[in-house]
Amino acid sequence: MKKKFLKIIATLSIGSILLTSCGPKDQPPLVYFPDMYFPVAYDPLQKADIAYSDHENEIPLFVANDGATGLGPVTGTVSQNEDHIVESNNDVPQTPDEYNSGYDASKTYTVSPLDPANKEKDLARGKILFEHTCSACHGVNGDGQGPIVMSGAYQGVPKYADRDITVGSVHYVLTHGRNAMGSYAGMLNVGDRWRVAMYVMNAFKSTPTMAAAKPAKTTATTK
Ligand code: HEC
Repeated sequence: MKKKFLKIIATLSIGSILLTSCGPKDQPPLVYFPDMYFPVAYDPLQKADIAYSDHENEIPLFVANDGATGLGPVTGTVSQNEDHIVESNNDVPQTPDEYNSGYDASKTYTVSPLDPANKEKDLARGKILFEHTCSACHGVNGDGQGPIVMSGAYQGVPKYADRDITVGSVHYVLTHGRNAMGSYAGMLNVGDRWRVAMYVMNAFKSTPTMAAAKPAKTTATTK
């Protein structure tokens, strides 16, 4: 009888230990290194408070930065739009109407905003970027017969000669994409998109860059 009673007590106590030892994680009975359980999220651009401590961050660089730990890049280390071309915010999604009106407007730009004094340098860089970024589909000759197309994996890449394009519209398509072709705004910065556009017009359209679209347009409308 006594043995049985002890057995019941033992089962009950082991059971209750087992039940309580796996309690909910948000109220653990004892926590070593609390910030492993409750990570402290903080914004490096805001004043950094030291968690679990009342004392201020005293590192002089951070104090001078209003207590924020996220510092700007050291001058001259990260290039930031060195061409100084200002563009509207391309991250805002466009409706189809906005896209189309922007595309039509871009066709009127027949001159790139880059400094004409650097034209040769810009075209040389445009060629390198084109061959690295575009030729897989468009072909090094701009005939739409790049290796991806030749392999049969991808279709519908046009020959530039068949398209009514201007340096502005090529830049627009690079920035916003067009149908099966995606945007290259994440890969090429503003100035480089204009360089590639200049190269496309210069190398693959019979009338190169500057005067390209205008005479073609007037003949098209007077016809
Ligand atoms: C993955 C394949 C692919 C790559 C890479 C690619 N394109 Fe295209 N591109 C296309 C396709 C497909 C079209 C046809 C889109 C349409 O008009 O339906 C196109 C169309 C174009 C047009 C004509 C747009 C118009 O207004 O008619 C231009 C200009 C162009 N691409 C330039 C480029 C340049 C410059 C690059 C490199 C930065 C590039 N593309 C990279 C697939 C590609």
